[in-house]
Amino acid sequence: MRRKLAAGNWKMNGTRADLSVLGDLAGAATEDGPEVLICPPATLLHPAATQALGTGIVIGAQTCHEAASGAFTGDISAPMVADAGATHVILGHSERREGYGETNADVANKVRAAWAADLTAIVCVGESLEDREGGTALAVISEQLAYSLPNGATGQRLVVAYEPIWAIGTGKVPSTAQIAEVHDALRAQLGDRFGAATGAAVRLLYGGSVKPDNAAEIFATSNVDGALVGGASLTAADFTPIIAALARA
Ligand code: PGA
Repeated sequence: MRRKLAAGNWKMNGTRADLSVLGDLAGAATEDGPEVLICPPATLLHPAATQALGTGIVIGAQTCHEAASGAFTGDISAPMVADAGATHVILGHSERREGYGETNADVANKVRAAWAADLTAIVCVGESLEDREGGTALAVISEQLAYSLPNGATGQRLVVAYEPIWAIGTGKVPSTAQIAEVHDALRAQLGDRFGAATGAAVRLLYGGSVKPDNAAEIFATSNVDGALVGGASLTAADFTPIIAALARA
């Protein structure tokens, strides 16, 4: 059985005062419930990981460099993320692909680095509105998945997040039929590439305008094992009901 995963991506939001959210969420993270992950900005990784100890909440970074160390001003490496107490890292988010020109090959190199540091990689894929309207969404996503993943995936160290770019931060959400079509295709492609057991073990998250009022419907969709949540993960008032909906799904 795949353990469900509620992942919060804080993006460039949050200072130390906002870590009180972790305390407010602590009751929502239970041993037999969904895994609860918060990915704060890099400055908060260590204090968040310290504060999360004993709560069941786990902490992740939002990106990392592909090298372990070196002359890369402003970057942080996968071993640094792990040293800060994080266990996960989001890679290939569309805001990194679009804003920083990260290619599928870059993402694959970062995934290798994450795995070498014993981090679980949450690899994001997703089409633009143009791709969706032009009927090429599935082809675009399939290509992203193929080239963003190195060999050696396992259900423990890989999570894939489907995040249609046009749904991120917009309040627009695909139909559950559209989400199911993509998630079923991702599951099949992972099975073809990594074998049926791994294909069945990798968790698939949906991301893009997940809110308390649409979470239950999304979580009832085929092959949806949880969510990658941006805006609605910033407060316990919004994230707690999303975690609860996932626990009921
Ligand atoms: P959103 O962001 O929930 O604010 O739409 C999701 C994401 O970018 O991961």
